[in-house]
Amino acid sequence: MAWGACALLLLLLVLGAGGGGGVHCLEVTRSRRALQRRHHLRSRAESGATILELRHHGGGGGGGSGKSGGRSREEELGGLFSSDAARVSSLQRRAGGGSWAEDKAAAAAATGRVPVTSGARLRTLNYVATVGLGGGEATVIVDTASELTWVQCAPCASCHDQQGPLFDPASSPSYAVLPCNSSSCDALQVATGSAAGACGGGEQPSCSYTLSYRDGSYSQGVLAHDKLSLAGEVIDGFVFGCGTSNQGPFGGTSGLMGLGRSQLSLISQTMDQFDGVFSYCLPLKESESSGSLVLGDDTSVYRNSTPIVYTTMVSDPVQGPFYFVNLTGITIGGQEVESSAGKVIVDSGTIITSLVPSVYNAVKAEFLSQFAEYPQAPGFSILDTCFNLTGFREVQIPSLKFVFEGNVEVEVDSSGVLYFVSSDSSQVCLALASLKSEYETSIIGNYQQKNLRVIFDTLGSQIGFAQETCDYI
Ligand SMILES: *[C@@H]1O[C@H](CO)[C@@H](O)[C@H](O)[C@H]1NC(C)=O
Ligand SMILES: *[C@@H]1O[C@H](CO)[C@@H](O)[C@H](O)[C@H]1NC(C)=O
Ligand SMILES: *[C@@H]1O[C@H](CO)[C@@H](O)[C@H](O)[C@H]1NC(C)=O
Repeated sequence: MAWGACALLLLLLVLGAGGGGGVHCLEVTRSRRALQRRHHLRSRAESGATILELRHHGGGGGGGSGKSGGRSREEELGGLFSSDAARVSSLQRRAGGGSWAEDKAAAAAATGRVPVTSGARLRTLNYVATVGLGGGEATVIVDTASELTWVQCAPCASCHDQQGPLFDPASSPSYAVLPCNSSSCDALQVATGSAAGACGGGEQPSCSYTLSYRDGSYSQGVLAHDKLSLAGEVIDGFVFGCGTSNQGPFGGTSGLMGLGRSQLSLISQTMDQFDGVFSYCLPLKESESSGSLVLGDDTSVYRNSTPIVYTTMVSDPVQGPFYFVNLTGITIGGQEVESSAGKVIVDSGTIITSLVPSVYNAVKAEFLSQFAEYPQAPGFSILDTCFNLTGFREVQIPSLKFVFEGNVEVEVDSSGVLYFVSSDSSQVCLALASLKSEYETSIIGNYQQKNLRVIFDTLGSQIGFAQETCDYI
């Protein structure tokens, strides 16, 4: 694409059109559009598919001022990145056989498509979808590294600030708590790798759960079941956590939807309906469009612009709920860099891709050499490769490509290469981070999965990728 034809982009993570020759062009502008248009999340069924709208959830939160709740954009981002770093180390524990939900976690061929949106409005950098639960609606963070779905429940002892009403068990006739001796309660213990859980008192003690995450966030409550509706597809007796004590970077959401590999995840619970297949297309944070979470294997509802390429999932008995693939190479601006990353987790809930130090350093060196004409700026939080792009009208961004086992090449959308820390472009960072040690597991985060269709085929044990512009609305 010629320089003059660069798509106009906006400040925060915007994107330029894909260019040939390993670069994207990005026009840096200070103009700011009204980004906060309010959408109601929608779902639909299309040619037998269940589609949920996905939105990006989080980020600067407030309106155009760059301030929200008295915190600057940088402070907010710093907080989000610390949470992200905590999540990354939390995943390490679990990937190594420990527990993602830290301690005492537990006590105790139809297709579906669900819209997925950016969580920008809700103060997290994650993606949310709205589902029906009981008689109401819940907007939940979509998380491929979690097994149990949970929502905040009334009456709440301690809840994070939620937009919209809490789930109220009392108003749902189809709601019931699960007893301690239920198979789901057993599964919860297996999933969380914890010892026997707490049982309530009474004739039929209920199964209580505690999910505590390394960054100090947690959800605590009872295991229950109720009717779940996903774009018209109804799942009776869906097992989830009814959380009455919750705290963490969950923004204004109701809670979290667990899409991981385990018995209690949404995917396992809907095996009959959706054959263990789901996919998502994550929209840009600041775009007014939204992406989709498609449940089931009907590829005809995708809007991919390149063929789907599949890489084999790596199976590992102690892999927890994670989806692993082998990363065999990385290219920057078409240039291959050293690439022995090995097994990586593909995660919807981590923001920034984190690579083992040797691979990160190789990528960084190559990026720096291709981006040498731009002045460097101080690092920000987990991002240590930053530039001051103030005063540049156009910036050539090297392309970033991951190569997975089987020579499966996945080009990262140009909006996923740089992170605009400051809206005046004086601190723009390579949107990748280094892990602390070579022994940790690299994670492909959601910032690098935007505008891609990512397909998780749990029965076929493969993950597919294709370019797709995530514009569900
Ligand atoms: C669980 O315990 C209750 C009460 O003790 C009993 O009636 C029920 O049959 C038990 N269920 C299972 C699945 O063991
Ligand atoms: C992933 O890489 C490991 C180590 O090279 C190899 O043993 C394994 O077979 C690979 N798995 C897949 C699914 O390609
Ligand atoms: C960024 O670069 C501009 C133009 O060279 C300069 O005026 C400004 O002080 C720099 N900002 C920072 C934070 O370094």
